[in-house]
Amino acid sequence: MWKLIASADKNWAIGKENRLLVTIPNDMKQFQRMTMGQIVVMGRKTFESFPNGLPLAGRENVILTRRKDYKVKHAVAVHDLDSLKSWLKGKKEEIYVIGGEQVYRQLLPFCDTAYITKINHQYEADAYLPDLDKAADWELVKTGGEQTYFDLEYMFTVYQRRR
Ligand SMILES: NC(=O)c1ccc[n+]([C@@H]2O[C@H](COP(=O)([O-])OP(=O)(O)OC[C@H]3O[C@@H](n4cnc5c(N)ncnc54)[C@H](OP(=O)(O)O)[C@@H]3O)[C@@H](O)[C@H]2O)c1
Repeated sequence: MWKLIASADKNWAIGKENRLLVTIPNDMKQFQRMTMGQIVVMGRKTFESFPNGLPLAGRENVILTRRKDYKVKHAVAVHDLDSLKSWLKGKKEEIYVIGGEQVYRQLLPFCDTAYITKINHQYEADAYLPDLDKAADWELVKTGGEQTYFDLEYMFTVYQRRR
């Protein structure tokens, strides 16, 4: 099964105008630590939101796009979910679904674990994750200690698909 990784605010908001709601350096480090050496799957919009416009270094980047002519150096473009599944079949690395909303929603059914950095704030947003606290088939299994970034409180949590 695949894993989902995201940061979300109190309303499960994840982005606005194709940007993250906030960048927390410690959260970025944690994301880096977890995904390094693994496979990251993302939507074309999330890929294009990266500040330097480059694939994430040290990871196999898979970009979902319906554009057949979409080419990115050092990344793989796949054009539908079946091609994604075939491409990922037999891979030894962990598979992390890294966003954004469209991709999280479509790939959540294939994930068994979700690493959610919960940000204790409500942002204006236009992109959301499904509320895993209300999802009957998901449960919160781990809550890290409260952390702060200036006056922003956040914590690392883990959800798992109920067996
Ligand atoms: N907080 C977080 O952890 C986090 C993480 C990642 C992203 N985000 C935020 O999420 C927002 C972006 O989310 P989004 O929903 O707008 O975009 P997205 O999911 O990143 O990308 C959507 C694009 O993916 C492609 N796509 C989606 N489903 C597909 C399918 N079944 N087959 C082939 N291609 C498919 C399409 O690309 P084409 O249009 O090229 O066909 C579609 O336009 C941004 O605000 C970003 O900052 C937040």
